Amino acid sequence: MKKIIVTGGAGYIGSHTVVELIEAGYTPIIVDNLCNTSIQNIKGIEKIIDKKIKWHNTDCTNKSAMDKVFATEGKIEGAIHFAAYKAVEESVQNPQKYYDNNLGSLKVLLQCMSDNSIKNIIFSSSCTVYGMPDVLPVDESALFKKAESPYGETKQICEGMLKDDTCNSVALRYFNPIGSHSSALIGDCSADKPSNLVPIITEVAIGKRKKITVFGDDYNTPDGTCIRDYIHVVDLAKSHVKAMNFLIKNSGKHAFNVGTGIGVSVLEAIKVFEESNNITINYTIGPRRDGDIEQIYANGSLVKSKLGWEAKETLEQAMISAWNWEKSKK
Ligand code: NAD
Ligand code: WQD
Repeated sequence: MKKIIVTGGAGYIGSHTVVELIEAGYTPIIVDNLCNTSIQNIKGIEKIIDKKIKWHNTDCTNKSAMDKVFATEGKIEGAIHFAAYKAVEESVQNPQKYYDNNLGSLKVLLQCMSDNSIKNIIFSSSCTVYGMPDVLPVDESALFKKAESPYGETKQICEGMLKDDTCNSVALRYFNPIGSHSSALIGDCSADKPSNLVPIITEVAIGKRKKITVFGDDYNTPDGTCIRDYIHVVDLAKSHVKAMNFLIKNSGKHAFNVGTGIGVSVLEAIKVFEESNNITINYTIGPRRDGDIEQIYANGSLVKSKLGWEAKETLEQAMISAWNWEKSKK
């Protein structure tokens, strides 16, 4: 059973990935200091897999603490690095916090890997590295634009750090992850007040908010609202298993888009949520949000041909699971 270090494995995407790694026969070892999640996700993983999971309550930026993790665990096949802060707006208010944690955790992890002769790393990157692409759907050869936020800049810098290191790496550039595991036992337990579209829709549905404001309907898109590529988190989790299988057999540096390839507008997303869950969402049209790009969606040819991965879940399934997760939090 190949051991995989999963930093941030108690978080939203990490917890789903841990479940998929176990189902694929890997032994994930979680390293998470719970700074932006809840112990509930660890308990949820254990309920889903019906056994205990090995985890270390450790700050990934702390080299000596990380040394202990690697010394305790013995032979490790590779690492999947989720641990980072992710609130875009907070990164504008407090950039240092983002540079310290997001760059610091990768730096320490790469040092530990090198010290222990571990070659394989999968990194959580983001479509934010592209900014507003010149060509849609965007493919991996698109040049990075100036980052819209310090958060985005940390993703660009981390991809550079991976290129400069001697490791074998896959940067997975996630589009917009949404939804939850069908059990509703794991999900986004982040302490941040939601700022993403789908968690805000579910908060309106449950009555935590009166309405959602659609940020602008005067974009150059069919209904005037912004277009994104919403990817079910379970599909996204599975892409990490494919990437690890790939890295174990292939060396070098790789980057793949992980999206559905389908562009969905804000109004379409609200409508699909309403129809899938039979709930009416109160919304109004407001001004554009600073820093929003008009549209982005993935060209998924490369990830399909190299990793054999493509999205399987529908937007309807994602919206149903997002609503089930919100209800389970009551
Ligand atoms: P999350 O906040 O739910 O998960 C991150 C986890 O890392 C949390 O459990 C947190 O406690 C842990 N963590 C953070 N810093 C740590 C540290 N120094 N030491 C140990 N643990 C630490 O976020 P997520 O949505 O699951 O995102 C996972 C990764 O994917 C992040 O790198 C994020 O930037 C990236 N990403 C997320 C999205 C998204 O929309 N959710 C999109 C693109 C990329
Ligand atoms: C989606 C669409 C909004 C809230 C962010 C990060 C990105 C990545 C994913 C990590 C946009 C609209 C939203 C609302 C709205 N994260 N919207 N009303 O901005 O595409 O990406 O999360 O890497 O880096 O920037 O996602 O969910 O915030 O917005 O109209 O109350 O929904 O304008 O068009 P975004 P989002």
